[in-house]
Amino acid sequence: MTYAEVHQRSLSDREAYWAEQAALVDWQQPFTRVCDNDNPPFTKWFTGGTTNLCHNAVDRHMATRPDAPALIFVSTETGQERVYSFSELHAEVQCMAASLLALGVKQGDRVLVYLPMIPEAAFAMLACARIGAIHSVVFGGFASVSLASRIDDAEPVVVISADAGSRSGKVVAYKPLLDEAIRLAAHKPKAVLMVDRGLSAFERVPGRDADYATLREQHRATVVPCTWVDSTHPSYTLYTSGTTGKPKGVQRDTGGYAVALAASMKQIFMGQPGETFFSTSDVGWVVGHSYIVYGPLIAGMATIMYEGLPTRGMDGQPDAAIWWSLVERYKVTAMFSAPTAVRVLKKQDPAALKKYDLSSLRALFLAGEPLDEPTARWISDALGRPIIDNYWQTESGWPILTVANGIEPRASKFGSPGVPMPGYDVKLVDEATGEELKGANQKGVLVIEGPLPPGFMQTVWRDDARFVKTYWQSVPGRQVYSTFDWGIRDEDGYFFILGRTDDVINVAGHRLGTREIEESISSHPAVAEVAVVGVADNLKGQVAMAFVVLRDAAFAADANDALKLEGDIMKVVDTQLGAVARPARVRFVNSLPKTRSGKLLRRALQAVCEGRDPGDLTTIEDPTALLQIKALFTPA
Ligand code: PRX
Repeated sequence: MTYAEVHQRSLSDREAYWAEQAALVDWQQPFTRVCDNDNPPFTKWFTGGTTNLCHNAVDRHMATRPDAPALIFVSTETGQERVYSFSELHAEVQCMAASLLALGVKQGDRVLVYLPMIPEAAFAMLACARIGAIHSVVFGGFASVSLASRIDDAEPVVVISADAGSRSGKVVAYKPLLDEAIRLAAHKPKAVLMVDRGLSAFERVPGRDADYATLREQHRATVVPCTWVDSTHPSYTLYTSGTTGKPKGVQRDTGGYAVALAASMKQIFMGQPGETFFSTSDVGWVVGHSYIVYGPLIAGMATIMYEGLPTRGMDGQPDAAIWWSLVERYKVTAMFSAPTAVRVLKKQDPAALKKYDLSSLRALFLAGEPLDEPTARWISDALGRPIIDNYWQTESGWPILTVANGIEPRASKFGSPGVPMPGYDVKLVDEATGEELKGANQKGVLVIEGPLPPGFMQTVWRDDARFVKTYWQSVPGRQVYSTFDWGIRDEDGYFFILGRTDDVINVAGHRLGTREIEESISSHPAVAEVAVVGVADNLKGQVAMAFVVLRDAAFAADANDALKLEGDIMKVVDTQLGAVARPARVRFVNSLPKTRSGKLLRRALQAVCEGRDPGDLTTIEDPTALLQIKALFTPA
């Protein structure tokens, strides 16, 4: 069947299509219904069925490939490299699962995972899935305030963490950040399970902090069978940013997710059992959940987990070819990364890419932010391999738009992630009227008509009302899921993404809410008002730019005072949210450009920062506000 036929069938004969895909995974009890959409937009997939993600990722491969590599851990930070076979992974996951059970974790309990890119992060996720606990992985780069808000929302029984992460050879102690977060949080976890990497000495809180090495040793022989859970049982929550300052817990099911990942591994990533998948993401992001841990393992592939920079070798010395050396050594067939990482490599010697044999690699998949044409061309020429852009979100869990070469080989178009994947009824609508834009090359909001396909978020954790209000009521007159992205579709049906419709910015593939950064900056005593916007950046795609009105202009009286205050404000963001959220610059201004009704003119502000025309300014209260900002961005 052609792509068009498959896509059409996935929508018009939804039940039969997904029932077929569901055969890609194991079920303990078969489902009685494929798609239950009796209470939209809360779609349930494969109801009546029971299954387990860990069984599908690990146990079911034990019969056919127990000795095949499953998890390949490479750290250029610590110079470690270790391959776990499926049976070794099976054993490790059971040690972790037994440890969690010993700490009192039960089915449905949350376990918060705050770990660097080490094998224990994968063991922890799989162990939770094994016993029916719900994991909530928080990116290791997040600081105490971010972590505390997630602890309060998830209310974990146990937090799994480590002494430290490492970035470019510099040790980043996690334990003090975690202790501070637990101090700030209203909810107190019963236990903290500590993985001691020996990187940074830390203090243990008696009665609360457990040592993983000790528990692992005690449970080396403990058998922990998989708990069969309902298909709709939540497997995890993962926090992501939106328009408000409060991050949303994206909640995913079990059965639908397993099926969606299994289908995507075949249709999009063309992964076969025994092959190797290499995603350079982090377990703290959705790409890490779907395509470092669950997707490749469900497909019976080995997955590479890489801790380190793309430009640093095993010996700690600069090496722009480290990724490609791994492709050669482990015969990687599919690689997944982000455009920012490629832009980092672009600055290095292109010969680095030619040093290794990349003939095993079928394609490089890129996602998370717009893929600009020069970057796509550069990496495509340098690798001599297809570059496949794919567009999706934390909410969707797997690609919404891309080309499915596993269904039908199809040309990619530079600048376009591609076409809708099976199950996705993607439309463009007019922002103001909600009317569908059917013609080619019309710009509209990219929406998805329900029911959403398997794998998509079920709801916002403990906040069904927020799920409905945020995602399903933003387009006037229609109940459709809004992606909050602008898009157009060309004559051939290829989509192009034109940026967000809300206040979310994308810094080096990291999704950040400007509201969160503004709230953090506002907590500095000198700050009266603040606006944060995303500004185009050659390397990171976008960077955050902060404009601050001070309580007293004298705080930044001269250049030195201003520089010091800028540094202090950046430090506040670092300690509250983490360095990922730190603005590139904090500029001090007399006033912010607002409408007469007091609404910040974000788009005008952003345009001026990027040297573009700010557009219609008839509603502006005080035009000098924008002029002052314009002067900051005009070379003298
Ligand atoms: O704005 C879109 C952008 O990233 C957002 C989702 O980010 P996140 O939840 O972190 O999930 C990333 C999963 C890959 C989207 O709403 N985005 C993601 N992929 C692309 C993209 N923008 C343009 N092209 C893409 N391929």
